[in-house]
Amino acid sequence: MSIDVRRAGDGVATVTIDRQDALNALDVETLTQLRDVLNDLEADETVRVVVLTGAGDRAFAAGADIKYMRGLDVDAAKAWGALGHETTRLLEAMPQPTIAAINGFALGGGCELALACDIRYASARAQIGQPEIDLGIIPGWGGTQRLARISGVGVAKELIFTGRSVDAEEALRIGLVNAVADPVLDQALATARALAAKSPTALATAKRAINLALGANHGDNLEAETVLFGELFSTADAREGINAFIEKREPRFTGR
Ligand code: COA
Repeated sequence: MSIDVRRAGDGVATVTIDRQDALNALDVETLTQLRDVLNDLEADETVRVVVLTGAGDRAFAAGADIKYMRGLDVDAAKAWGALGHETTRLLEAMPQPTIAAINGFALGGGCELALACDIRYASARAQIGQPEIDLGIIPGWGGTQRLARISGVGVAKELIFTGRSVDAEEALRIGLVNAVADPVLDQALATARALAAKSPTALATAKRAINLALGANHGDNLEAETVLFGELFSTADAREGINAFIEKREPRFTGR
């Protein structure tokens, strides 16, 4: 089981991504389990708040599994993007508040899972970013939209164009995380318990109302990102970038 779920008596459910030999990178099995777990939690009235974190002390999640993405064709890449969108959309739109406890690397799809949560806390050792450009692709689980909404279009363009990751202090400065704290899970659980004592109806309504600030075409924008992400898997650059990572060498991009 690569997704662990703990429901505490106080209404807080803690979901842990546990695939430590790949720095908690999400393959199909892990991402499907995460989607299914979030669906279950959404329907469980005893669950008031959901906390998402990564197992171990190195990673929240180092992204979508690059080894799985090697060789995906356009249709398979679109389906992979859609599964990521379904999962991130649950975090963003489920009635319960969702809190990310970023305990290490949150890269690519890991950053996108955190961006979809309502609140983000980072450990001082966190490294957060969208390095997809170095694989010859783009963020495909909502990162292009949510990073732009949370930290601004200028920050999103710089981070997504360069693929550079930020440390916890910079993440705080650009509004990418709400606070830096260690142990980060304790901070997330403290907020979660405080929220679990509030009216779930008022919280769910506040969340719906705040999500309206995402704008009416946010859903369409996410659809468009899925199509663009999938189409990049027909390019030589995507194959080169993904192969280069797995073969532990620098990529040589040709623009094709
Ligand atoms: N997909 C698949 N496997 C991954 C992975 C990913 N996104 N991220 C890390 N891993 C695997 C590595 O391949 C390695 O496996 P191996 O031991 O079988 O070779 C293992 O996790 C440990 O990673 P490693 O690269 O050896 O650790 P490191 O400390 O040297 O570097 C990172 C850590 C996070 C900087 C580096 O793993 C990395 O750049 N990962 C990819 C991040 C990324 O591009 N994510 C976006 C994907 S869309």
